[in-house]
Amino acid sequence: MTPSLTSTTGGIDLPVRLRRLRRTESLRRAVRETRLDAAQFLWPLFVRSGHGIRMPIGSMPGVFQTSVDELLLDAGRAVAAGIGGILLFGIPDTKDATGSSAWDPHGPVAEAVRAVKRDFPQLLVVTDVCMCEYTDHGHCGLLTASGDVDNDATLDLLAREALAHAEAGADIIAPSDMMDGRIGHLRRALDGAGFQHVPIMSYAAKYSSAFYGPFREAAESTPAFGDRRSYQMDPANAREALREVRLDVAEGADILMVKPAGAYLDIIAAVKQDTGMPLAAYQVSGEYSMIKAAAERGWLDGNRAMMESLVAIARAGADLIITYFALEAAAALRDR
Ligand code: PBG
Repeated sequence: MTPSLTSTTGGIDLPVRLRRLRRTESLRRAVRETRLDAAQFLWPLFVRSGHGIRMPIGSMPGVFQTSVDELLLDAGRAVAAGIGGILLFGIPDTKDATGSSAWDPHGPVAEAVRAVKRDFPQLLVVTDVCMCEYTDHGHCGLLTASGDVDNDATLDLLAREALAHAEAGADIIAPSDMMDGRIGHLRRALDGAGFQHVPIMSYAAKYSSAFYGPFREAAESTPAFGDRRSYQMDPANAREALREVRLDVAEGADILMVKPAGAYLDIIAAVKQDTGMPLAAYQVSGEYSMIKAAAERGWLDGNRAMMESLVAIARAGADLIITYFALEAAAALRDR
């Protein structure tokens, strides 16, 4: 009989039975299309000054703000779990209108980069480059007299911050501000200072999202007034995401990022298809906290929801996944 691609209707003759390969875990494992690997995870960590500090973040169970000494313990856990890298966010001691702590060579991020690269040279250290944690108004750049974020004036501040991170030894710089032209500006600044070898991971398609809510508690970066809709993308737009990423590629981005991840899987797939570039996706604080909260209430199986959410992001086309689940997911992959 000639093999047929479709089953005969009527249930008499069924040469094709897709259930055959779903029968046992061994079969399912053998034909699985998407595999997760701890090496593709980047674990976001929040660092502040001081010693022996490990402050829980109320809206993100299992996530902490730590001092550098405590952060080194987490970096050690990341290495032991085989996680690819960490993504550092800083909480400065002081904030001002220009966010000047952002380029402090002895600020928490610079100190953390030096300490982690000294103790764990093989762990990738990525730094978030943005002004919102450092400005007293909480916006991602300098403000004009009328309260708008001044795009072009912000670029130089971002460059100073990126250079401070590169000088401390960051492996990758990750600008998350969404100013126009920042990738080209940062590339020139890095190259001009001898950091031609430092890649830029661009938050290329970053949406103005309610899912960042818990992060703003974690990073103490809630805007004092207004919102970020004049610089972050409108959630309704997909074609615009491709314009954003093409510009960033043209300006010299090495890795692109889509953020958030779970509600933007179509964007991840489209960017992968359009650019073929190394692609990261950020499973943001709200995505994490929703799963944690539902699991705490017994409303869903937290472990399975975690792994399903991550494999979906990889299936959509992400090479790297930035996730607060990194350590737990790495453990789940190991125990499988
Ligand atoms: C800073 C920044 C934000 C996030 C990463 N970098 C917050 C924002 O843009 O308001 C969100 C991360 C998360 O929610 O986990 N610009």
